[in-house]
Amino acid sequence: MVDASQLISRNVEGAKLSAIKEMAMRSAKVEGAVSLAWGLPSFSTPEHIRRAAADALAGDPDVGKYTLPNGMAALRECVAQHHAKMTDVEVDSEKNVFITAGNMQGMNSLLHCILEPGDEVILTDPGFASHVQQIRMFGGVSVPWPLDEDAGWQLDSQALSGLITQRTKAIILVTPSNPTGAVFPKEDLVALAEFAKKHSLLVLLDDPYSDLVYDRAHEFFNLAMDRSLFDQMAYLFTFSKSHAMSGWRLGYMIVPDWLRQQVLKVHDATLICSPHISQVAGMAALSGGREHIEQFRNILAARRRLICERLDRVPHIFEYVKPEGAYYVLPRIVADHDNSFEFSLRLLDEARVSVTPGSAFGPSGEHHVRLAFCVDDDDINMAFDRLEAWLPG
Ligand SMILES: Cc1ncc(COP(=O)(O)O)c(C=O)c1O
Repeated sequence: MVDASQLISRNVEGAKLSAIKEMAMRSAKVEGAVSLAWGLPSFSTPEHIRRAAADALAGDPDVGKYTLPNGMAALRECVAQHHAKMTDVEVDSEKNVFITAGNMQGMNSLLHCILEPGDEVILTDPGFASHVQQIRMFGGVSVPWPLDEDAGWQLDSQALSGLITQRTKAIILVTPSNPTGAVFPKEDLVALAEFAKKHSLLVLLDDPYSDLVYDRAHEFFNLAMDRSLFDQMAYLFTFSKSHAMSGWRLGYMIVPDWLRQQVLKVHDATLICSPHISQVAGMAALSGGREHIEQFRNILAARRRLICERLDRVPHIFEYVKPEGAYYVLPRIVADHDNSFEFSLRLLDEARVSVTPGSAFGPSGEHHVRLAFCVDDDDINMAFDRLEAWLPG
């Protein structure tokens, strides 16, 4: 008999399957359950992107082969142009652009490059659960930076200096945020950049959602626009959400050259390259129009209105901060409960509604649940009809 505890590394043994996937697996076993647990949008990859991939499969006999580890030169060139258009920052497609198999893989390579056991990474709390697990898998330590719920889940710049130690290597940031939907204002991001420069920290900006800002979109500030931070920032963009390409596993990073040289070694040894066919699709996504993004945003804005209306009808169950971007809301549970996990399990078992317990996103997420409103209106309505029947006001 194999003694698994002898074989499995402590770093992996101590990590957890994300509660998002755990709830998805549990709800798959409950017949007729409706899920607001997983941030998987209902959209299909736009037709022109799928067509470009189909054409390449039909016409390019080399499309099934590896590309260079940092990605196809033509795609990197496209990314460099796109990045300059979005941020006004010129980058070198050879020295600064790196094609990834999505932001999770990109982040993993970056953490691999920087973390020694015991090194610390500051993360917003609540924040994206998989970042915590990735850090742990490298023997690193995540340091929660509590967001201010009363201020709309905003950054608390004052608290930052109390979190830094000799072992701090980086700060991970997601704006618009998963799981709160908050968008961080320019002044707080600039303050964070100053702090990172002062303490020589790397800023890892994980960006799945900057195309999905609903309120005051013109005020949205992408920290990748700050040229002064360029040498100590990795900007990660994923095609998963903006282009409905989550299954293609494609993203890119903009990194300083010193970091690119290290990431190249990790890629070479672990992934070789992002899927070639996905890179072809990515070129179509970046070089085609942006109408589909506008369309996704409009649909999601309507779903946000719907979920907020439904939340307004259940003040005896939830209190919430209106999300400004992404497609998540993290209401506080005001109904009777012990903790967010117990509440989520009861909700699934007794009302057949699947949500993600807020504790999955860090200590400040406890007593909350995350609801993803990227699903169809009917699912949002059915979930809230069941919730209202389960706990009438
Ligand atoms: C903050 C954050 N990072 C990364 C991802 C996943 O990105 P990808 O599909 O590119 O790996 C998500 C998806 O929910 C996310 O919310």
